[in-house]
Amino acid sequence: MSAEPGQLDTTAHLASWEANADAWIAAVRNRALPSRRITDAALLQRIAHRPYQSLLDIGCGEGWLLRQLGGTAGRRLMGVDACAALIEAAAAAQQDADFVCVDYDGLAQCSSLVGMSFDWIVFNFALFGAEADTAALGFALAHLAPEGRVLIQTLPGGSQEATSCETFAHLPGEWTPMPYQLRSPADWQRLCAAAGGQILDSTIVCDDNGVALSILMEIGP
Ligand SMILES: C[S@@+](CC[C@H](N)C(=O)[O-])C[C@H]1O[C@@H](n2cnc3c(N)ncnc32)[C@H](O)[C@@H]1O
Repeated sequence: MSAEPGQLDTTAHLASWEANADAWIAAVRNRALPSRRITDAALLQRIAHRPYQSLLDIGCGEGWLLRQLGGTAGRRLMGVDACAALIEAAAAAQQDADFVCVDYDGLAQCSSLVGMSFDWIVFNFALFGAEADTAALGFALAHLAPEGRVLIQTLPGGSQEATSCETFAHLPGEWTPMPYQLRSPADWQRLCAAAGGQILDSTIVCDDNGVALSILMEIGP
């Protein structure tokens, strides 16, 4: 499916992850993304502030988050992603989590997720699409356990919604440019409302010089 002018081409977005899977796995596992030291810690700290027994990582990539959270008996961890190579790498590196290859539009029909609910459902830099993001967030809100929360970490946006392109030129390896959707705070509010939720907390994560690296949002029904 090709996009209207000014709209994200979701097929191209997902194709870039297929093309970049090996380079992405190396970048994350070799800690080549300096900002991630701060954004990973912010995410882990937020997850830890509420007791939980189950967590679903949507757009989990090569699975670093679930590896960090593994090792606790009785805790149910799941990761889903459209990119088969990333899901294979995640599953190969961790025994105590379940990984499923599915895209956001397929979540509601995914047999592995039927009847499940989670205390946390996390999107870590994984909502860069357009319509598919509304479906994924709606799915997440409908699959929260009582008192459960959706946690989104994303790039600080501009003043209005725009398509952009990440070339990954600052990272080692061969990369295919990734087209993505950049949202403003108002766009995030609209997306949450369209998915049936509301933003309960929004925190800007900064580096030591006060430069904004991400926004961390807690979403509830
Ligand atoms: C920037 S990576 C982040 C991966 C991981 N959350 C992390 O923190 O390293 C974005 C991930 O979202 C996944 N993704 C993007 N759009 C998707 C869609 N429509 N369906 C399923 N996965 C998607 C990509 O395949 C990719 O693995």
